[in-house]
Amino acid sequence: MFVDSHCHLTFSELGTQLTQIRQAMSDAQVDRALCICTTMEEAPQVLALAEQHDNFWATVGVHPDNEGVTEPDVDALVALAGAPRVVAIGETGLDYYRLGDRTPDQMEWQRQRFRAHIRAARQAKLPLVIHTRSAAQDTLALLMEEGAPEVGGVFHCFTESAEVARAAVDMGFFISFSGILTFKNAQELRDVAAWVPLDRCLIETDSPYLAPVPYRGKTNSPAYVPYVAKALAQAKGLSVEEVAEATSRNFEALFLRKSAPLGDAEQLIKPRKLT
Ligand code: NI
Repeated sequence: MFVDSHCHLTFSELGTQLTQIRQAMSDAQVDRALCICTTMEEAPQVLALAEQHDNFWATVGVHPDNEGVTEPDVDALVALAGAPRVVAIGETGLDYYRLGDRTPDQMEWQRQRFRAHIRAARQAKLPLVIHTRSAAQDTLALLMEEGAPEVGGVFHCFTESAEVARAAVDMGFFISFSGILTFKNAQELRDVAAWVPLDRCLIETDSPYLAPVPYRGKTNSPAYVPYVAKALAQAKGLSVEEVAEATSRNFEALFLRKSAPLGDAEQLIKPRKLT
């Protein structure tokens, strides 16, 4: 019934409890999950999860916040993307939130890393999983410059303004909402969620982080994604079932098109321009 479009099951908080996590998912009717890669070092573990469980898929990429790790080039990303269960490139993007004593001008290395991911996604014909924080304008500009609308993707764990959501949707991207949508102080985000067209919405946990209310502050798990669905349903005045159905269909359209019949795949890849 539900799909968690973004989780980190290899992180130490969760990696050792896979059997319990999968049981909890099944009990909560969370049928599927996308396992997100954040370093090249981690990639083999993420791929193994997807190879060992037919309701898990994997991405390959290096998170913009990760420093002191192997820097991916286009060829390395494309090579990993060739594995059969890899359905996206990321998470990648820009993050100017943790600059320390640096200025955005000094983050050219991050922009170069982001460009490499977009180029790899275009070569591999896979969508992008985008992380953006305190860097929305540069993120959007760079996606356009590098031709990312050709492959599309998702802005994960969305916390940006309605204007940014609009720009992302106009570029053909999906918007994924996390447990933040359930937080008391997130009314502005719920207003954005009310606006985003249902056929562009995804839901995620970003576990082990950002557990939704009533588990806020605890270790998150894909089994909690129904709480995000419920918050999105409330924001949109829909039933949880409608949101579950739509976000599952959107997940298939964006990430599982690799295995779709050719006619369908072509249709799914074409970004739809909204008026
Ligand atoms: Ni993440």
